[in-house]
Amino acid sequence: MNESTQANYAVNQDNPLWLQFWQDQRVDFHQTEVNPLLAKFWINLELEYGCGVFVPLCGKSLDMLWLAQQGHAVLGVELSPVAVAAFFRENQLKFTKQRCGQFTLWQSGRLGILCGDYFALNKKHLIGFETVYDRSALTALPETIRRLYVAQLRKIMPHKARVFLLTVEDAAEHETLAQAIEVSAEIKALYQNDFSIELAYVESVFESDVTAENSPVKRAEYKVYRLSAESP
Ligand SMILES: C[S@@+](CC[C@H](N)C(=O)[O-])C[C@H]1O[C@@H](n2cnc3c(N)ncnc32)[C@H](O)[C@@H]1O
Repeated sequence: MNESTQANYAVNQDNPLWLQFWQDQRVDFHQTEVNPLLAKFWINLELEYGCGVFVPLCGKSLDMLWLAQQGHAVLGVELSPVAVAAFFRENQLKFTKQRCGQFTLWQSGRLGILCGDYFALNKKHLIGFETVYDRSALTALPETIRRLYVAQLRKIMPHKARVFLLTVEDAAEHETLAQAIEVSAEIKALYQNDFSIELAYVESVFESDVTAENSPVKRAEYKVYRLSAESP
């Protein structure tokens, strides 16, 4: 296998798994409410009314509806046609469907979803979409693929791209609270070459596994990052 075939294999290796999750409705990651951190902190981006927002690995997220209701043109990309069909059906949206290269574009007013593989997108698909909303897209991917996800994002997004990134970061062993409320080492390593990174908000939550007896309380940090692409 040459290097590019190896990379293609690596990025696509989980695709059958995701398709199966949707087929079997094993989609615990789906939130039945709009993400509260989106609703609270999005406004601070001070974006122009009507500007385009790209939502990678969008699933059937209700956050897309909320973004469209704020006046944005929204473009999601999602691998599973089951997820895309469920999004339009469950939200009672009338849609059109058209072939768009390797993708099928489902469109309803200012909201569209390209059904296909994120790694097959190119710059032309994202003309007019300068802001990215990422909730559980980067972090849904295996750690080894995340670098390729960011490289692809940089390749397909306009130069002035901004990213609104939500993460849930489990506390590492012996990590202090002071260390936890900083930009994580992984986010720095992934984005700092191409983006300036601002950590806009951190919330610590303490949880134990209620299904297991004497399960230890674990800490995690919910973080809101704002990233701005550096000029080339
Ligand atoms: C953890 S879910 C998050 C969905 C959504 N962002 C949310 O907040 O509900 C990840 C989604 O990415 C989709 N996905 C995984 N790999 C993909 C790829 N290469 N291209 C497009 N979608 C992908 C999966 O089918 C799944 O719906």
